[in-house]
Amino acid sequence: MSTLRPLGPDDVEQAWALGRLAFGGDPASRPPERPSAATALGEFDDRGRLVATSALHPYEQWWGGRRVPMGGVASVAVHPDARGRGAGRRIVKALLPLMAERGHAVSVLFPTAIGLYRPLGWEVVGSLDDTRIPVRDLRAAGEPEDVFVHTAVQADVKTVHALYEWLGVTSAGLLTRDGPMFPNGPQDVLTHDVVALAETGSGAPMGYATYDRGRGYGPDSSLRVWELVSRSGEAGAALLRSLASWDSVVESVLWRGPTDELALSLGKPVPPPERVQPWMLRIVDAVAAVAARGFAPSTSVDVSFALVDPDVARHDGAWRLTVDDGRGQLERIDRRTDLPLLHVRGLALLYAGAADTGLLLRVGLLDRPLPTLDAAFAGPRPRLLDSF
Ligand SMILES: CC(C)(COP(=O)(O)OP(=O)(O)OC[C@H]1O[C@@H](n2cnc3c(N)ncnc32)[C@H](O)[C@@H]1OP(=O)(O)O)[C@@H](O)C(=O)NCCC(=O)NCCS
Repeated sequence: MSTLRPLGPDDVEQAWALGRLAFGGDPASRPPERPSAATALGEFDDRGRLVATSALHPYEQWWGGRRVPMGGVASVAVHPDARGRGAGRRIVKALLPLMAERGHAVSVLFPTAIGLYRPLGWEVVGSLDDTRIPVRDLRAAGEPEDVFVHTAVQADVKTVHALYEWLGVTSAGLLTRDGPMFPNGPQDVLTHDVVALAETGSGAPMGYATYDRGRGYGPDSSLRVWELVSRSGEAGAALLRSLASWDSVVESVLWRGPTDELALSLGKPVPPPERVQPWMLRIVDAVAAVAARGFAPSTSVDVSFALVDPDVARHDGAWRLTVDDGRGQLERIDRRTDLPLLHVRGLALLYAGAADTGLLLRVGLLDRPLPTLDAAFAGPRPRLLDSF
């Protein structure tokens, strides 16, 4: 008989060893000394050996300009002796009621095996990619006027965080980067080698770029660019120029995250990503997820459908979604047989703005046209800049 339970301090060594085996960690490394704010679950076999783990990270994510409590799933690992017999599925599925109990309305994970999570209701809604770009290609056309770039210092930490929050509120999907998983708060930004801050001549902050210098100065040398946030084209161009100024000693940058803005600034096409890291979203508590997020203020929607969710019983049945004044509400209604059927994975795709109802229809996540749902969830494409 196997046992599934939360892991405690006495299980740290075993959990660490399983994680190291599963993910190829450094054999010389040791478990972290400071307890994490994450909650870990473990499955033990009948001899008391830990055979499976999963962990839940309490995060918040920006959706529609508002904070939505999100459970980040990580450290999913099954011992090689126990694989292929359902332990992975059990240890992930056990997180669903735990997340609902903790108030996480949605859940995100970075899968190595999509086939494990898709049948449990998570769906791929975005990708956190790494793209290698010749550093000389970053020199955007035109000389930026009235924007100056300098290296941020301690006194600029709040300013940099405010720029990140601005991006969070105006885009979709970013972590809020506060709460228990970020014990150092905005301060962490200064762990990068360089935080380049772009300001107007009168000192108004307009953007920043964070990067690590890397080693050496030959043809293999590369800057690791973590993020570039700009509130104007001028600020973006100034920050790109400051990166391009490394071209005498650095061949390329390894660029983390979306390149759609970059593609509109450069004179050459952005190369395809070197590494692709998809991320998946699940709606854990549909009522809470709709109530927590923001919607486009000009949208007014009233639509009914039946939700299909094989793993969350309270989702099953008929619902009415109303959106007005930037807020949404999902109310249970009497079960009717004539309602369109929407799969919970389809709801995740819509919620994230990652797909439209036409696509859902074509892949069988919706059983008949329902364009009103497109209007309800219309918004920016989602992005995440932190992996976990
Ligand atoms: C991935 C892993 C957790 C799967 O554990 P497991 O106990 O073998 O998985 P299960 O037996 O519960 O399988 C459940 C479902 O997931 C699917 N699945 C399992 N491993 C998979 C893989 N590598 N690729 C795609 N799908 C996979 C199975 O097909 C199964 O679906 P089915 O029943 O419809 O066939 C395990 O192989 C592992 O620890 N791998 C190394 C670490 C890792 O990749 N962790 C995941 C991090 S996101």
